[in-house]
Amino acid sequence: MDYIHTEALNKHYEMGHTIVKALNGVDLSLPEKSLSVVMGPSGSGKSTLLHLLGGLDRPTSGEIYLDGSKLSQLDENDLAVFRRKTVGFVFQSFNLIQSFNALENVSFPMRFMNVPRKQRIEEALFYLEQVGIADRASHKPSELSGGEQQRVAIARALINDPTLILADEPTGNLDTASGYSIMEILAGLNRNGRTVLVVTHDPRMRQFASHIIYLLDGSIVKESVYEQAVQQVS
Ligand SMILES: Nc1ncnc2c1ncn2[C@@H]1O[C@H](COP(=O)(O)OP(=O)(O)O)[C@@H](O)[C@H]1O
Ligand SMILES: [Mg+2]
Repeated sequence: MDYIHTEALNKHYEMGHTIVKALNGVDLSLPEKSLSVVMGPSGSGKSTLLHLLGGLDRPTSGEIYLDGSKLSQLDENDLAVFRRKTVGFVFQSFNLIQSFNALENVSFPMRFMNVPRKQRIEEALFYLEQVGIADRASHKPSELSGGEQQRVAIARALINDPTLILADEPTGNLDTASGYSIMEILAGLNRNGRTVLVVTHDPRMRQFASHIIYLLDGSIVKESVYEQAVQQVS
């Protein structure tokens, strides 16, 4: 069974009298521990696909099976649990809280999970260390470079040890060098056994990919598979 499987996935938006087909009949199958790159021009449906796979939004029609769950069968509560436990999101704009330092940004979501304060700090530091930025724990976002802020955002995405990482143009706001280090971090998370989907325009991400999916007008127009790149984790 594939880790990610979609059948005839549609997401349509009604805009006045017209219907925007953001996703139009997407059939996608991706194995566990794969690293997939989603490419396509602006407006082709890349973000919509990630939102649906991560349970942030529901399709107009079609089905998503993810890690054994049929997402349409989950009610809002179960979907929230699925998002929290299974999925880590990384966005282009980092989405950090400006008044919090790096450690607080990473530990903050754990407040809502009844994790004791000491453990919150330990876990946040652990994940900041994993992305190589523990020495900036007390810095606020405004005191960090774009690449450093994205590392903090990745650390935050890791706090529930999600099996799936969804990254939407994570290097879109970064310079060439820090963009590459973010790609290496995402590839490392994949090597550690996570399934990773990255929307990016940067061709350098391809070297890490087992699957490349090309979207155009809401449909997959091309798919490349590199079997040898699917990570074998013992
Ligand atoms: N909430 C929305 N309401 C209406 N149209 C939307 C909405 N979200 C996305 N769209 C439209 O769906 C299409 C795909 O959008 P999106 O998935 O954001 O594309 P991409 O991420 O590839 O740039 C675009 O035409 C966009 O304008
Ligand atoms: Mg987008």
